[in-house]
Amino acid sequence: MKILVTGGAGFIGSNFVRYMLSKYPDVNIINLDALTYAGNLENLAGIDDRRHMFIRGDISSVEDVETVFKKHPVDTVVNFAAESHVDRSLHFGTQIFIKTNISGTQVLLDISRHYGVKRFVQISTDEVYGSLGSSGKFTEKSIIQPNNPYAATKASADFMVRAAGKSHGLNTVITRCSNNFGPYQFPEKLIPLMTANALENKDLPVYGDGMHVRDWIYVVDHCSAIDLVMRYAEDGSIYNIGSDHDVPNLEIVKLILKILGKPDTLIKHVLDRPGHDRRYAMDSSKIRKDLGWKPAYSFEEAMNKTVDWYLNNRPWLEHIRSGEYVKYYDTLYRDRLPVSGKYFPRN
Ligand code: NAD
Ligand code: TYD
Repeated sequence: MKILVTGGAGFIGSNFVRYMLSKYPDVNIINLDALTYAGNLENLAGIDDRRHMFIRGDISSVEDVETVFKKHPVDTVVNFAAESHVDRSLHFGTQIFIKTNISGTQVLLDISRHYGVKRFVQISTDEVYGSLGSSGKFTEKSIIQPNNPYAATKASADFMVRAAGKSHGLNTVITRCSNNFGPYQFPEKLIPLMTANALENKDLPVYGDGMHVRDWIYVVDHCSAIDLVMRYAEDGSIYNIGSDHDVPNLEIVKLILKILGKPDTLIKHVLDRPGHDRRYAMDSSKIRKDLGWKPAYSFEEAMNKTVDWYLNNRPWLEHIRSGEYVKYYDTLYRDRLPVSGKYFPRN
C-alpha cells in the first residue's frame, strides 16, 4: 500500500504515520507537509524507516502536489493537512483557512483523480455539525451547520470531496471525529495548553463558565478508526468517530490538575470564545457496527498516558512555547484576562 499522508508532521497525522508503520510491514508513506507553525519535524523524531519519506510542500500548490505524484506512485491519499484551530480562525483571519482547507483539498482531489488514486480519505471533524442542545448526539445524517470559520471551511471541504465522488467518480470516504488528545498535540488546544500551563504554575484560562462539552478521544483510537475506514468503508461513505466520553471542559481541566498534583486555584474563568459551540457528542454506532471498531483505551488511562507524555517531553514543549508562541499567547489571551475571579459570558 502506497499512502500519501498530508499534514503528517502535525498532531494526528504524525500519530497516524507511527501507527501505520508499526502495524503494517508492507506500507509505504509519503508525508507531505508545509511545516506551518503547527507542523513540527520533532513530531517525527525516531521514525527512521525507509518506508517513510517526508516532503515539504503545500497542498494548495498545484506544483508541489504534482511534483509528488509525478515522482511517487500513490494509491491512497489521507488528507490531514489543515489549519485546525478555531481561535486562530476567529482572531487572525480566515484567508489561510480557505486556502488550505478548501482550495488545498480541491487541488488534492483534482490531482488524485488525474493520477488514478484508488481511495481518497478526507479527515473531517464533528464541528461541521455545529452545536447540540442539552440532549442527543450527532449522527452521519445530522445537518451540516458549522458555527465558526474553521468549521465552515472543513464543511466546505467535505462538500468538495462529495462532489468529486458524485461528479467524477473519485473513490472517497470522509471521517468526522470528535476532539482528540494525546502526544504531539500543539499546545494551543485545551489539553496540552492546560497541562503545559499547570506544569509552569501559570493560570489555566477556562473560556466562559467552562461547561462547554466536548467528546474526547485518544488519538491512537482515532488512528485505528481511520485505518479501518481507509481499508474497508464503502465508496462515498461517511463515518462519525467518537469515544462516548462527553464531559465539560472544567472537568477535564480539574482532572489535569489532579494528575499533576496542582491546586484548582490555578483555574481562571476568562472571556468566552465568540460563537462558542456549547456541546458536541458523537453517535459512532455506524463505524462500530459496520467495521467492528471500538476504542482500545479507557479515558482515564489515555489521560494519564497523555499528561505523562508532556511531563516526560518537556524539551518538545519548551521548543514550541518560545518565540512565536509567546506572541500568539499574549495576543489571544491578553484581552481575555479575568477580573477578580469573574468570568465574562459573551452576549
Ligand atoms: P495540526 O494543526 O496539529 O496539524 C496540521 C498539519 O497540517 C501541520 O503539520 C501543518 O504543517 C500541516 N499543514 C497546514 N497547512 C498545510 C498546507 N497548506 N499544506 C500542507 N500541510 C499543511 O492538526 P491536527 O489536530 O493534527 O488535525 C489534523 C486533521 O484532523 C485536520 O484536518 C483537522 O481538521 C482534523 N481533526 C482534528 C481534530 C482534533 O481534535 N485535533 C478532531 C477532528 C478532526
Ligand atoms: P480546543 O482544544 O480549541 O478544541 P475545539 O475548539 O476544536 O473544540 O477547545 C476545546 C474546548 O476547550 C472548547 O470548548 C474551548 C475550550 N478552551 C478553553 O476553555 N480554554 C482554552 O484556552 C482553550 C484553548 C480552549
